[in-house]
Amino acid sequence: TTETRTYRIGFSQCTGGDEWRKTLLNDMKRELTFHPNYTLLYEDAGNSTTKQISQIQSLVDRDIDLLIISPNEAAPFTKVVEAVFRQGIPVILLDRKIETESYNAYIGGDNVEIGRLAGVFIGNYLKGKGRVVEVWGLPSSSPAQERHRGFREELKKYPNIQVVKELNGQWERDTVRRVVASDLNTLKNADLLFAHNDVMALGAYGVFKQNGIQDQLDFVGIDALPGPSAGMQAITDGTLKASFLYPTGGEEAVETATRILEGKSVKREQILSSIQVDGSNVRALKAQSDKLIKQQLDIEKQSQRIEKLTETYTSQKNTLYLTLTS
Ligand code: FRU
Repeated sequence: TTETRTYRIGFSQCTGGDEWRKTLLNDMKRELTFHPNYTLLYEDAGNSTTKQISQIQSLVDRDIDLLIISPNEAAPFTKVVEAVFRQGIPVILLDRKIETESYNAYIGGDNVEIGRLAGVFIGNYLKGKGRVVEVWGLPSSSPAQERHRGFREELKKYPNIQVVKELNGQWERDTVRRVVASDLNTLKNADLLFAHNDVMALGAYGVFKQNGIQDQLDFVGIDALPGPSAGMQAITDGTLKASFLYPTGGEEAVETATRILEGKSVKREQILSSIQVDGSNVRALKAQSDKLIKQQLDIEKQSQRIEKLTETYTSQKNTLYLTLTS
């Protein structure tokens, strides 16, 4: 018999704490179950760039065959990623970009387009007139830069919509809560708050709610995740007026990794599409994703049963073998 070669994929993630990144990891793990000869070595940097750089080095020391990375910031990763690439270890960038050409594939949503879609929605929603607050994700990360760019480009079509304030929420709920709370008097005169992700939009909403003024403006975010405290539910509840699906690319990343390691060709730029989620389609989308989640749980249960059966079978076979040979 020919033995299948085994591979080690290293995955360096800027943070693992939020719903989007948990979904991403699950998507990768699900795809990995179809590739039993692949092992995943996972590192979570907890939003720290320095930590993430040293984790990448330690993944390389542990002999990974390929690196998947979702970098915290763009610029600081150039050197380390170029070094990995130069050693002959293929690199896949996921969701966030870096400033170098030293990678084999980039996989992620079209963040400029998502920003533009948000601009279109808000332009229509405000009927071309109003005061908007923009809450940024980490300004040194590529999705924040690109979402901002697309959003502002689109808003140029609406001369009577003003961005009255930009805040830096760093993608994080607690940061947003702090900056919003300290500027509440200016912010409450706005008509709408647009945040670069739902976590921040909902964080801002929470502060307004605490002050009993949540109805003075509307909230729009990005990610539109299923689950009890994420974007889809918030749209159903009316807390968010709209959000935009931001696909994780987890499945595609693993698939691309296996293709690279097996010497097959891959597309270098893999841009995943998004859609607007709002009151008109959230029910259908939620039903769909709930069903997917349920199916996923069923598959996991089934594969656990198969594993159990295989174990029983193996131990019976071994007992039989021992009985026959002793
Ligand atoms: C999760 C997250 C998402 C956002 C993405 C951008 O950590 O902040 O909410 O869409 O990262 O990279």
